[in-house]
Amino acid sequence: MGSLSRPVTEFCLDLYNKLNRNAEDTNIIFSPISISVALALVHLGAKNNTAAQIEKVLHVRKAAGGMSLGSDLENAAPEMEPERSQEGQSSLSQCNKDEDLNHKAFHALLLQLQNLGESYVLTLANNLFIQQGFKLREQFLTCTKELYGAMPQTVDFQGATEAARIKINTWVESQTQGKIKELFAPGVIDIHALLVLVNVIYFKASWENKFEEQKTVQRDFKLNQNEKKPVQMMYQKGTFKLGYIEDIGAQILELPYAEKTLSMIILLPGDMADGSTSGLEQIGSTMTYENLTLWTSSEHMFETKVEVYLPRFKLEGTFNLNEVLQEMGMTDIFTESKADLTEMSFAKSLVLSNVVHKTYVEVNEEGTVAAASTGAVIVRRSLPLTEVFMADHPFLFFIRHNPTNTILFFGKLCSP
Ligand SMILES: *[C@@H]1O[C@H](CO)[C@@H](O)[C@H](O)[C@H]1NC(C)=O
Ligand SMILES: *[C@@H]1O[C@H](CO)[C@@H](O)[C@H](O)[C@H]1NC(C)=O
Repeated sequence: MGSLSRPVTEFCLDLYNKLNRNAEDTNIIFSPISISVALALVHLGAKNNTAAQIEKVLHVRKAAGGMSLGSDLENAAPEMEPERSQEGQSSLSQCNKDEDLNHKAFHALLLQLQNLGESYVLTLANNLFIQQGFKLREQFLTCTKELYGAMPQTVDFQGATEAARIKINTWVESQTQGKIKELFAPGVIDIHALLVLVNVIYFKASWENKFEEQKTVQRDFKLNQNEKKPVQMMYQKGTFKLGYIEDIGAQILELPYAEKTLSMIILLPGDMADGSTSGLEQIGSTMTYENLTLWTSSEHMFETKVEVYLPRFKLEGTFNLNEVLQEMGMTDIFTESKADLTEMSFAKSLVLSNVVHKTYVEVNEEGTVAAASTGAVIVRRSLPLTEVFMADHPFLFFIRHNPTNTILFFGKLCSP
C-alpha cells in the first residue's frame, strides 16, 4: 500500500521548504502529486543524467538513497491496473523502461484519483507544449497518452507567441471546466521558449460533516502578534480525530471529506505569545516523512468531541518552478549543452523552458452535493470532554488521499 507515499511526501517537504523561504507571511498552496506526475511525464522523454536528476528530485532514485520501489510495486500495481488490451500491455512495458521511476505506479495512482466518486471533482491536467519544428517520437507520444493521458501539442512560440499563449490558456480552461482561465497573462510567454510543461489541478469536494452556514460568523484572524483581520469563521462541533505534537505545542485535526476517502489535515501551532509564525516555522523544521506519519498515526490521534473553528478560504497558487527545481538538482534539463531529451525528440537541442504549476483550492461550509450519507454512528462516551480547535492564526494543512497515504495538496494559510 502507498508505494508513492514516501517519495511524494519527501518531494512535497523539499518543495515546501524552498517555496517557504522569503515567504514568511505569504499563503502557499501547491500539489506535490500533481507536480510529481508532471515531472514523471517529462522523465519519459529524458535519458542519462537528465533522467537521473529527475529521479533524484522525486526521491525515487535508489542510488541516491531514495526508497527502493521495485518489489513493493510489483505487488501493488497489477491490482489497480485496469483491463487493457494486448497492444496496450506491450507498449506500456516499453514505456516503463526505467527501474527507478516506476511509471506504472504513477499511472495506477492517477487512475485511483480519477475515480474518487461523485462527491469529488479532482482534475489533474498535465501537458507539454513544444515549438513547431521539433518532431516528437511516436513511442513518446504513445507513452504519454497511455500513462498520463497527455497529448503534447505543437505551438509556435517564436512566430506566433500570442497564439501559443491563447492555445495553452484554452487548453487549461477546458481541462479545468473553466475554473482556471488565464494561466498565462499577455506578455508572459518567452518568445525563445521551446518546451513548456503545464500542470494544473482543480479540486472540489464535500466534507463528510458539513459546517452549517448559519453558524459561520465574523471573527478576528490573527495575522501575527500585532495585526488581525476579520474573516468568515466556520464552526461546528463534532467527533473528529485530534492529536497533539507535545514538543511543539501544536494541535492536529483531521477533517474527512466524503466517505473519508480524502482528508484535510491541519497542523495548528499553539497561539503562542511570541508570535504564531515561529510556531509555524517550528513545525516546518521538524516535518519529515517519519514525523508526519507518526503525528497522524492512530496512536497519536484520537476520536474526540471537538469544537472546530476554521476560516472559509480560497487559495490559488501559480508557480514557475524552473528556479526551485534547479536548486533541488534538476539542472541539466534546463541547460542547452546538457539536456538529454532524446527519448522525446530526435533533436539534440531540445531543452525544457518552463514548468508552470497552478493550484486552486476552496474551503467552505459544504462543497458539492454530498452522496447518500451513511448515517455516521457517533459513539457516545460518558462525560464527553469537548476540545476546542481554534484556527484563528496561521496554520499548515494538507489534503491526503487516505487509501494510498498520498499528499495531494500542501498549503500554508497566513491570511484567509
Ligand atoms: C551520459 O552522461 C555522461 C555524463 O554526463 C556522459 O559522459 C555520457 O556520454 C552520456 N551518455 C550518453 C549515451 O549520452
Ligand atoms: C520529529 O518531531 C519531534 C517533535 O515531536 C522533534 O523533536 C524531532 O526533532 C522531529 N524529527 C526531525 C527529524 O525533525
